[in-house]
Amino acid sequence: MESYPESPHDHEGHADHPHAHPHRRSEPGEAPLIGIVGAGAVGTALGAALHRAGWPVVAVASRNAARRERFRSLVPGARGFAEAPAILDEAELIILAVPDDAIERLAGELRLYGGQALVHTSGVLGAEVLEPARAAGTQIGAFHPLVAFADTERAIAAFHGATIAVEGDDQLITHLADMAEALGATAVRLAPGSKAAYHAAAVLAAGGFVALLDAIAELGAAAGLDEQGSLAVYGGLIEQTLGNARALGIRAALTGPMTRGDVGTLARHLEALARLAPAALPLYRAAAEREIALAESRGSLAPAAAESMRRLLAMPV
Ligand SMILES: NC(=O)c1ccc[n+]([C@@H]2O[C@H](COP(=O)([O-])OP(=O)(O)OC[C@H]3O[C@@H](n4cnc5c(N)ncnc54)[C@H](OP(=O)(O)O)[C@@H]3O)[C@@H](O)[C@H]2O)c1
Repeated sequence: MESYPESPHDHEGHADHPHAHPHRRSEPGEAPLIGIVGAGAVGTALGAALHRAGWPVVAVASRNAARRERFRSLVPGARGFAEAPAILDEAELIILAVPDDAIERLAGELRLYGGQALVHTSGVLGAEVLEPARAAGTQIGAFHPLVAFADTERAIAAFHGATIAVEGDDQLITHLADMAEALGATAVRLAPGSKAAYHAAAVLAAGGFVALLDAIAELGAAAGLDEQGSLAVYGGLIEQTLGNARALGIRAALTGPMTRGDVGTLARHLEALARLAPAALPLYRAAAEREIALAESRGSLAPAAAESMRRLLAMPV
């Protein structure tokens, strides 16, 4: 990795004491030495995936010894540290894979050496939260993989074909895009100000979809299906619907009573939900409102029918 222009500083902020830059360096043209802070879901899978892609993951910082050792078993040769600042002496590109709420505080405990770069993996925060760690000749950025990190090996596999939003100065962006490509992913740059919306959509697609699945399984249980049974039965319908949306567009993929104005069916559903799965009612209602609006917008639902359905949805069951 090319080093960024250096300017002496020290970690105590005494600019009259030039800093010796003890951190290790890659050779020009080689991938940067990578250090990861946080051996949680993202840090561990990303570290292992980069290692398997041939990138030099040289260090990890985690306050938890068991997580640190698990990381090191997946990334042989990486040095383990309990404290994040120790990583600064080992790596050139430091990745903060810690909870969103911890990033800014942690950045305040780090001060980069000239030539180093710091990125975080948050989908909602901008690179600017890393400003406290910045010094002259350093760069900050973000590297957000659109991957659901539920299981390490499944997440490593999922980097292939995933989208990774990258952010930072031009030189850093080039390295981050190369890193995404090495993982088999596609790097994208988001329009300024759009990150929270992009991430909210991701949260609906991953966590929101799991919440929907959970409600589906709860109703499936009332019909005598266990979780695997529900996944088998309704999973097929979900895949078919996704296929329809991809082939025909989202609006054209909408099916069901809300497209027909079947008020009686809606009433029966609401009664069954109230009796058998009351916790799923708000989700059903919210989805039904959206379905009615979609059906109206494509002209398949008369305004009077839409109005009757909306009235029914607003009534206590
Ligand atoms: N989960 C996802 O699907 C996903 C997807 C894309 C991006 N992300 C982003 O990736 C980042 C990490 O998420 P994650 O799911 O990997 O979280 P996680 O599994 O909870 O792991 C977080 C790691 O950070 C460390 N940590 C926690 N609090 C800390 C603190 N106050 N100071 C320093 N270290 C702390 C943890 O503790 P130890 O030091 O004890 O090990 C752990 O190793 C977040 O910014 C998240 O938004 C997550």
